[in-house]
Amino acid sequence: MDSQLNRSIFSRVKADWWTDYFDEYYLRSQGKFYEDAIVTSKEWDVLSSYPEIQQLLRRGDENSQGQMQNERKVEILDLNCGQGRHSILIANSKSSIQVHGHDQSQFLIDLARARSSHLSNVRFSVGDSCSVPADRNSYNMVMILGNSFGFYPTEMGDHNMLAEVYRVLQPGGVLLLECTDATFIRENYELINEKWRWLGQDENLIACYQRELSHDGRRLATREIIVATDKGIIKDTSIPVRLYDQSEFTEIFRNVGFVVSEDSFRKWPTTLLSGQYGMLKNRVTIKVCKPV
Ligand SMILES: C[S@@+](CC[C@H](N)C(=O)[O-])C[C@H]1O[C@@H](n2cnc3c(N)ncnc32)[C@H](O)[C@@H]1O
Repeated sequence: MDSQLNRSIFSRVKADWWTDYFDEYYLRSQGKFYEDAIVTSKEWDVLSSYPEIQQLLRRGDENSQGQMQNERKVEILDLNCGQGRHSILIANSKSSIQVHGHDQSQFLIDLARARSSHLSNVRFSVGDSCSVPADRNSYNMVMILGNSFGFYPTEMGDHNMLAEVYRVLQPGGVLLLECTDATFIRENYELINEKWRWLGQDENLIACYQRELSHDGRRLATREIIVATDKGIIKDTSIPVRLYDQSEFTEIFRNVGFVVSEDSFRKWPTTLLSGQYGMLKNRVTIKVCKPV
């Protein structure tokens, strides 16, 4: 029994764990954050404050007023888009911008499609993040948001995902990535370790979390167990995420060919979320470009 209890979370990780983790229970356990429209809208205010992104959105406005040529239509890819919260927000606010959300979860993409059926400027596809169904140079901007990077078991997998982003971005296009602040997690990971909470108000579901930082600090494994008080354990998933700090991100981006500049990295305002948000409270935003 003790040896079971002491087993490393890393040893419990199943290959391709993401193929069955991102389902209705993911939305229930993470919904406090990922399903809160006010949080998403505040996030977008922060993300879109980069001058390049403001410029891109303005170009969308000019297009819709007929001042620009059609060939300069603004195209955005939301990679690992989940249930499409950012894609739908952007498409709703800018009818002139074409948004494409891509994610491996059929469940989340079905939800995204149902929620956006009234919009003609957003589409969704299901598939792996290393193979986006698009030609090279298709998008003005690619976004990887809401802690959606570092899931592959090797750094080569992460590299291949970024190489795919590079392929589909236009020269001069922007990659906007937003994820947990690795430096904060490495220094404070006990703060987010071993927690449990009720899910929803009148449901009898509980989510329990245990975390383990690898010895080299590169990977954080989270074990999430969902329990129904009347049924017992419903789901038990171990999730390993590669944490990249500023210098590790700079290296992987430059290896792929992106231009990293002095203003590429921004710390997320921690005041954005009041209360307990685990790995989502302290985040960084990174903006890099494909050379012209
Ligand atoms: C934490 S969720 C964030 C979703 C969304 N970006 C948001 O902010 O709401 C991570 C997403 O990455 C997707 N994902 C994980 N691994 C993937 C892969 N190999 N290929 C495509 N999508 C993947 C999951 O299905 C999930 O929707």
